[in-house]
Amino acid sequence: MTDKKKPAPEQKDEMKITVTKNGPYIVTGGVPLIRMEICNDDEGYCRTWREVERFSVQETYALCRCGHSQHKPFCDGTHAKIGFIGTETAGSEPYLRQPRIITGPELELLDYENLCVHARFCMRAGGVWNLTENSDNPAAKATAIEEACNCPSGRLVIRDAETGKAIEPELERSIVLIEYPPREEHGPLWVRGGIPVVSAEGKPYRIRNRLTLCRCGRSKNKPFCDGSHIQH
Ligand code: FES
Repeated sequence: MTDKKKPAPEQKDEMKITVTKNGPYIVTGGVPLIRMEICNDDEGYCRTWREVERFSVQETYALCRCGHSQHKPFCDGTHAKIGFIGTETAGSEPYLRQPRIITGPELELLDYENLCVHARFCMRAGGVWNLTENSDNPAAKATAIEEACNCPSGRLVIRDAETGKAIEPELERSIVLIEYPPREEHGPLWVRGGIPVVSAEGKPYRIRNRLTLCRCGRSKNKPFCDGSHIQH
C-alpha cells in the first residue's frame, strides 16, 4: 500500500493592515479592495453607498498613505522622495476618547466626535442626534439606526437603550476607497468587518467593525482619518 500523504493545506495569512514608518499600509491576507461612492437622495442628503470598482484580489499589497502616489490607491515609493512624515499620533494617546452619549427613549447614541470623516449620512431627517432623542417614534428610530450604521468611521455607534447592545451593520471584511463625487472629495480608507490594524511599532489598535484610515497624509490623528482631506 502506498502512503500518499495529502499536501499540507496552503497556509494563508490572516487579514491584517500594518502601518509602516513614514510609508504605506501593508495589507496582508487577501483583503478585498473596493471603490465605493456616497450617493445623494433627491434632497441632496447623503443616503446610500454604490460600489463602482472591485480590484482583483491580491494576497499582499501596499496602499498609499502619503497622498502623493502616481499609482493610487497603491504606493509607488513617492513617500520616500517627498520625505513623508507619517508619525502615528493616535498611537500615543487613546484615539477613542470618551464619547458624547445621547440617550433617547429606545436608543442610545455614542458620538466619538474626533473620528468624524464628514460622510454626512447623519444629517437627514433632522439628524441622528434628534432622531435618537425621539426614538420612541418607529420611523425616527429606524432612520437613526440607518444613519449611525452608515457612518464609515464608527464615530457614531447606536445601542439599544434597554439592553445596551450595539446595533452594528454586517460588513464584508474589506477595505473601501470612499469617494464623494458631488464635492469631488476622495475620502479615507474604510476598513470594514474588524480587520486588525497594527502600528509601525507593532502595537495593535482596538479592533472595530468600522474604522477609517487616512490616505491623504494630512490627518492629525494618524493613522486614522480626521476629515482633513476636506480642506484641500
Ligand atoms: S505612501 Fe508610498 S507613495 Fe504614498
